[in-house]
Amino acid sequence: MIRLHTVSPISDIAAAPSQSSYPPPADFAAQANSGPELYQAAEADRLGFWAQQANELSWAKPFTEVLDYSQAPFARWFADGRLNVAYNCVDRHVEAGNGDRVAIHWEGEPVGDCRSITYAELLADVSRAANALTALGLTAGDRVAIYLPMIPEAVIAMLACARLGVLHTVVFAGFSAHALRSRIDDAQAKVVITSDGQYRRGAAAALKPAVDEALSTGGTQESVQHVLVVRRTGSDVAWTPDRDLWWHDVVGAAEPEHACEAFEAEQPLFLLYTSGTTGKPKGIVHTSGGYLTQAAYTHRCVFDLKPATDVFWCTADIGWVTGHTYAVYGPLANGTTEVIYEGTPEYPDQHRHFQIIEKYGVTIYYTAPTLIRTFMKWGREVPDAQDLSSLRLLGSVGEPINPEAWRWYRRVIGADAVPVVDTWWQTETGAAMICPLPGVAAAKPGSAMAPLPGISARIVDDHGDLIAPNDPCAEPVTGYLVIDEPWPAMARGIWGDDQRFIDTYWSRFAEQGWYFAGDGARYDADGDIWVLGRIDDVMNVSGHRISTAEVESALVGHDAVAEAAVVGAIDEQTGQRICAFVVLAASHSEVGGTIIDELRQRVTVEISPIAKPRNVHVVPELPKTRSGKIMRRLLRDIADGRELGDTSTLVDPSVFDAIRAAD
Ligand code: PRX
Repeated sequence: MIRLHTVSPISDIAAAPSQSSYPPPADFAAQANSGPELYQAAEADRLGFWAQQANELSWAKPFTEVLDYSQAPFARWFADGRLNVAYNCVDRHVEAGNGDRVAIHWEGEPVGDCRSITYAELLADVSRAANALTALGLTAGDRVAIYLPMIPEAVIAMLACARLGVLHTVVFAGFSAHALRSRIDDAQAKVVITSDGQYRRGAAAALKPAVDEALSTGGTQESVQHVLVVRRTGSDVAWTPDRDLWWHDVVGAAEPEHACEAFEAEQPLFLLYTSGTTGKPKGIVHTSGGYLTQAAYTHRCVFDLKPATDVFWCTADIGWVTGHTYAVYGPLANGTTEVIYEGTPEYPDQHRHFQIIEKYGVTIYYTAPTLIRTFMKWGREVPDAQDLSSLRLLGSVGEPINPEAWRWYRRVIGADAVPVVDTWWQTETGAAMICPLPGVAAAKPGSAMAPLPGISARIVDDHGDLIAPNDPCAEPVTGYLVIDEPWPAMARGIWGDDQRFIDTYWSRFAEQGWYFAGDGARYDADGDIWVLGRIDDVMNVSGHRISTAEVESALVGHDAVAEAAVVGAIDEQTGQRICAFVVLAASHSEVGGTIIDELRQRVTVEISPIAKPRNVHVVPELPKTRSGKIMRRLLRDIADGRELGDTSTLVDPSVFDAIRAAD
């Protein structure tokens, strides 16, 4: 079957006894938003079920058709309905009398720098920003790049774009000028919203210079008319007159009322660039009605959200899809009070997250396994020093969670009592797809359990045949995870490249019309799903998706490098670590000891510090097949310190002796 080559630390999955499951406490199940009947309702009438979820939103014009899949794989959901996404996330809560409810408890990194924003205040802020963006000439369909730290203006900017039918493309503020430029260029953004700087680990770091650099050449210079700059750190910034504008001047002076227009349900809402198996990031397109329906529905049922009493905290940055769906659209569509934190978990010390939970009485906490493993390393005395008794639900996302981390999370952070939901999904799926319902499932540590009501997924073999649940006595059988029915929040394409969308996701099982997620998975004896990680050339480092090709292309861009191959090696802490093998150009074969640092630095500059290879091995040659393909599988064996797999297709198997000797 499939040979998994990018598996996170899941060594204890196979050993996890199937009886180690954690049913919801009876009092939790009794009050839960969603019970087993949700599965039955979706099973009985899937499209009717989604129509019902969509009708939880406020539609300016109700839809009559649920799904049009005649142009598969380009779906249209609720297509004849009209709505405004920002109205649904803000105005309607104020109109319902909840204007005084806090929407966002914002916690800056410097201790004491915080702000709580009510829904009424958020409405005024979003309206001002929408008026300001309109005054800058933006109209529906235009693109705005948002390159901001986790400050309230980031959320306000996203919602202001949504309000105008303008697409935002948020670029993680940890990305380099080079990465920002390629995204602005591909999206042909007219406006960039950024800040002078951001606080990271107690220091003010500049941000605007990266925008200036990104805009210093060709394509971006032509498309970008204005840069709107939020003053965050107060540091000096270079200024391009006419192009650069201060947020507080332009937005601050705008009217706090804005009458919003309703758009078609299929109005594009945002682009979000993500790594694929080639060097060029893909602009994943999401639209309005279907995306918001699934974002709100999953937020309500997976997190058992009670808007009047819960305080929800998703720790993801808005630069990633998790930040879009569960730090902005899902929670706000549901009228939630949420926490947004600007900084790192260890500033000023390791207690910060737990202090924030205590300070705001966080009831639902959603984070990534990497951070949970970091907490484990720090030791339980850190969380134990704070009162975490407000927590009633914990969530995990972004990478497979190893059972040991799952159990620790529940035992130490969750007082050995609260449900833990492991949520599997992707940038392309838009919202959660496979995960337990907390009031229903007897969750198993490490398993994403089952497709949510309304979602249909299966694990299949090379031929598309369903893999049967594992016989507990047999070797686990791993297959491809596919989604076999369209879903409302599914990507509507890759920006400007329909064919790439089809080729990337829909060609592997074209005959069946299934979406191939790129992940390997298996069923256990009960038929529950265990997602094992990527089986393509995409790495997952601390829950961040990075393509091997992207890192390779940064490396071969260095004069000294003739060839490069990058693989993800297993790492206890970060899931995977990036491991590069480079062959130096003949002219540089005598290059001294600085080359490795130079190469790591080059990747930082070209992409981001998160893509910097942990190890760079200078080797005499790369293992290749007769057709010239680099055999990454074997390099992964080396990186993981495993016995080499099958080397029979190599041109020259002795290359490995040379690689090992070079190490
Ligand atoms: O490999 C899967 C892994 O993250 C990939 C999607 O990455 P991205 O688009 O950046 O979105 C991350 C946040 C939704 C998937 O293909 N992944 C995500 N969540 C899980 C996971 N792997 C296992 N278990 C999860 N819960």
